Amino acid sequence: MTSLHAGHLEGSDFLQQDAIRAAVRETYATVRPTDRRVAERFYDRAELAGLPEDTVRIALGVGNPIRYADLRPGERVVDLGSGGGIDCLLAARHVGPTGDVIGIDFLPEMIDRATAAAAAVDAANVRFIQGEIEALPLPDDSADVIVSNGVPNLSPRKVRVFAEAFRVLRPGGRLAIVDLVLDHDLPPEIATHPAAWAGCLSGALSEIALYKGLRRAGFRDVAIERVDDFGIDECALYPLFSDDLLALLRSRVPAERHGSIAASVVVRARKPTGDEILPGRSMATNARIRRSSR
Ligand SMILES: C[S@@+](CC[C@H](N)C(=O)[O-])C[C@H]1O[C@@H](n2cnc3c(N)ncnc32)[C@H](O)[C@@H]1O
Repeated sequence: MTSLHAGHLEGSDFLQQDAIRAAVRETYATVRPTDRRVAERFYDRAELAGLPEDTVRIALGVGNPIRYADLRPGERVVDLGSGGGIDCLLAARHVGPTGDVIGIDFLPEMIDRATAAAAAVDAANVRFIQGEIEALPLPDDSADVIVSNGVPNLSPRKVRVFAEAFRVLRPGGRLAIVDLVLDHDLPPEIATHPAAWAGCLSGALSEIALYKGLRRAGFRDVAIERVDDFGIDECALYPLFSDDLLALLRSRVPAERHGSIAASVVVRARKPTGDEILPGRSMATNARIRRSSR
């Protein structure tokens, strides 16, 4: 695997972007459905009922964004980093036949897998498009809701990801993402470990950096709510964490933090409508929002 020398600078993007991107691609291109443990931790029996078994077994998120997205019939939902498609298939049930769901993933392997899953459950209102979350292949102001599950952390360009989400949302549109945040810097061996990056851990921001990144992108009413601790036992649920990496975590992370290396959070935010004059928003952003809401 590619080695990383990532500098984790609060409030800025990461260094060595190509190495990070290559490690993430390599990991998810080869991951296969394993067991139901991740899905059963975050989704209840009714949610999992009726989903293809492989979709359940390749759930790789860190929470359940659909529970927090308050989806309504007729809405258009975009899922950033849709993977095996579990959240798209669940979102499709909420938005119904008058709404639609678009999953974005940069790996053709994931797009094919998720497309087959949607076909298997006759979810005609779901489609998957190959693309990068840093350059979404979607028009401005075209989505009502953006969801994501354990993906912005994987990007070396998070500010860019948030800016793209903002661009694609219609004025008044909503964001509901689940991801990990860090309260303490990780030991350097973990912070630069490719599999720890691919496992959503090393790329995690602090809560304040996440808040600032979303505000900088233009979002308002940014609310970050802690859902759960994420410790070594949780890492061990994922096929992404090898025994070697788990051993490294046990030896390098102070014992009192083994149960809480990170925390899972749900992040909700809103793109302002055109007629809102908000303090802290630049004149250029105000003008752009006004133009796009006409
Ligand atoms: C941790 S998995 C989560 C998958 C899915 N959201 C879930 O909950 O099971 C991350 C997914 O995001 C995709 N991904 C990672 N970085 C991406 C990027 N920059 N652009 C598009 N997709 C990306 C990966 O290919 C993978 O399918």
